[in-house]
Amino acid sequence: MQSTLHPKPPAGLHAGIIMDGNGRWAQASGRSRTRGHVQGARVARAVVEGSAALGIGVLTLYAFSSDNWKRPAAEVRSLMRLLRVYLRSEAERCIEHGIRIEVIGRRDRLPPLVAREIAAAEGLTARGDRLLLRLAIDYSGRNAILAAALAGPTSRREFAWNLDRASHARTPVSEVDLLLRTGGERRLSDFMLWESAYAELVFTDVPWPAFTVDDLAIAVREFRGRERRFGGAPSPSQARVARTRPILANPPAIGNGSRPLSEIVIAHAPRR
Ligand code: FPP
Repeated sequence: MQSTLHPKPPAGLHAGIIMDGNGRWAQASGRSRTRGHVQGARVARAVVEGSAALGIGVLTLYAFSSDNWKRPAAEVRSLMRLLRVYLRSEAERCIEHGIRIEVIGRRDRLPPLVAREIAAAEGLTARGDRLLLRLAIDYSGRNAILAAALAGPTSRREFAWNLDRASHARTPVSEVDLLLRTGGERRLSDFMLWESAYAELVFTDVPWPAFTVDDLAIAVREFRGRERRFGGAPSPSQARVARTRPILANPPAIGNGSRPLSEIVIAHAPRR
């Protein structure tokens, strides 16, 4: 159903985050993977609350992919429980911070209590106009594309509308500007494949449970330093840079100056 309350998202960047590395972060200090997810949820809260100040208007967090159902039943159960608790506890805070929650992905396979909490959080926060927080739960970019295509659109605009409908996105948002993945892997894992066609990709080795708002600020700075060309020719200043600097086969991870972010984080002790 289309929401008429806030048909437009707040102004600002659309950032998508693949929050990876929870399990490895926890296991590195002998704890259960669930502990990593719990700490990950705390980090999500801080990042959500710090996003608007960094110029982000839409934040899409990949909380549970359609392929995550393949995980051991106990881990799936604890993730579902965590999502339910998160939605319940965050709704009040989100109202205070002007954050509107929207969940994208399939609803029909979720435990009924989670589906109920989603509906409650979406209803309670519907007036938020500082940040649109989209949680991708039971989400698959390819399945959304397939469903949008099977609906037989006759234009790209109609396809985009179908795509939103296929993922239950009520607010049409701009394409992804910045796509960030934590945890050291360099892949998209079926996340917003269509919407990220011209996203700037930023990868960091920092595991999600150790990620901070400062790390997000570094990623946004990295994004703002890039020239987005959308297939066009480089600007004269960029062309000059390319003539004087060889293109790196393996560019360093993001970081401040000469020090990659990965080094900064490896120095962190795991937080308890
Ligand atoms: C990937 O780490 C993370 C997930 C599959 C779940 C993401 C969930 C959270 C961050 C917690 C809940 C979030 C919210 C917004 C409430 P992984 O388990 O694949 O880590 P690994 O690659 O180290 O195994």
